[in-house]
Amino acid sequence: GLSWSSSFLSLAADDPDFMGREIAEQPETVERILSELAPRVSTGDLWRELGLPHFRRVAVLGCGTSLNAGRIIAHAFGAFGAIVNTAVTASEAGAVVLDAETLVIAASQSGETADVLRALDELQTGRGRVLALTNSMHSTLARRADGVLNCSAGPEIGVAATKTFVAQVVTGVCLALSAMVARGTILRAQADAIVDDLRRTPDRLENAIAVSRQWVPDIVESVRDAQGFLFLGRGAGVVYAAEGALKLKELTYRWAEHYPAGELKHGPLALVEEGTPVVVIESADGRLSANVAEVRSRGGRVISIGGPGSSIPVVDGHPEAFARSGRVSQGRGGNTFAACGPLESVVPMQILARELAIALGRDVDKPRNLAKSVTVE
Ligand code: AGP
Repeated sequence: GLSWSSSFLSLAADDPDFMGREIAEQPETVERILSELAPRVSTGDLWRELGLPHFRRVAVLGCGTSLNAGRIIAHAFGAFGAIVNTAVTASEAGAVVLDAETLVIAASQSGETADVLRALDELQTGRGRVLALTNSMHSTLARRADGVLNCSAGPEIGVAATKTFVAQVVTGVCLALSAMVARGTILRAQADAIVDDLRRTPDRLENAIAVSRQWVPDIVESVRDAQGFLFLGRGAGVVYAAEGALKLKELTYRWAEHYPAGELKHGPLALVEEGTPVVVIESADGRLSANVAEVRSRGGRVISIGGPGSSIPVVDGHPEAFARSGRVSQGRGGNTFAACGPLESVVPMQILARELAIALGRDVDKPRNLAKSVTVE
């Protein structure tokens, strides 16, 4: 397969914009986070040190990219410990009912997002049950929460969240794993196996960057004039599809929608015409092949990520490698524990959004109408 080469590093370091450099920093960011957290995950100490009370359910809340990270984190609590979980759109939290035994994880890079702070006022939670997952330990959110977990991504200047997204996902998944060890839901040996797999994340991200730099420029040329994009996935891939669509909208000002691939035939397939770009996050079980065929037969331009024969073979183009990245070990009743899902699939979508934006003359660090920290409701 294709692999990362050192000549790529100098290219990335030369990117004139913050976003390009922040994408390139993702492998080292995850490496640093894991070297800090990994020793405390399978002992359960990462969870215990937070001093939070026992919980039965989890609600992760956030906005935008932090909400997408929150969806993966909520999913991890379900996958590791069959914990009933939900992800809450912070601006809609007023309509959500939680009980006193729900752990609320507020995910916010800045820790200053007004919708998140307002949600904490609105949600009726039990005492001591709000954990902040933030990149700013001195933020309003960090002060308001009962416990704080630093996602340790370092400063992110580009308005589009990139390295803070992968940092939130990896930190939150470590938290979920640690909490399940602490309560005895998952054995230490099982947690060790999942941590070993997580430790391969930096290599996977590096490989995804190198491969994307090679494949994305031609794709950009072929979709330059497209006005609308679809992003499809299954399972955790749906969340990454959502994040890919958000990056594309934010940076290129083109319309982009994401769907679970199975929903395509229930409506959005009507949007597909000759040349419509459809980004597909492949899954190891091949369950997207029928959906891809539906798009192709209508003349859609399929851009597939991962899996055999894909346009962007982010995981060495190897189906088993892609399977490993999504599912790491067997759980009870033959279920699989999914850790982060195909996290590296976000990389080609970040790079596609950035390179298409540059080709269209957009300011990738400061997209129109947007702010890095949204302090109004
Ligand atoms: C991400 O690319 C966006 N700029 C935006 O969705 C952002 O994630 C959202 O505003 C939440 O910000 P926060 O993480 O600082 O709370």
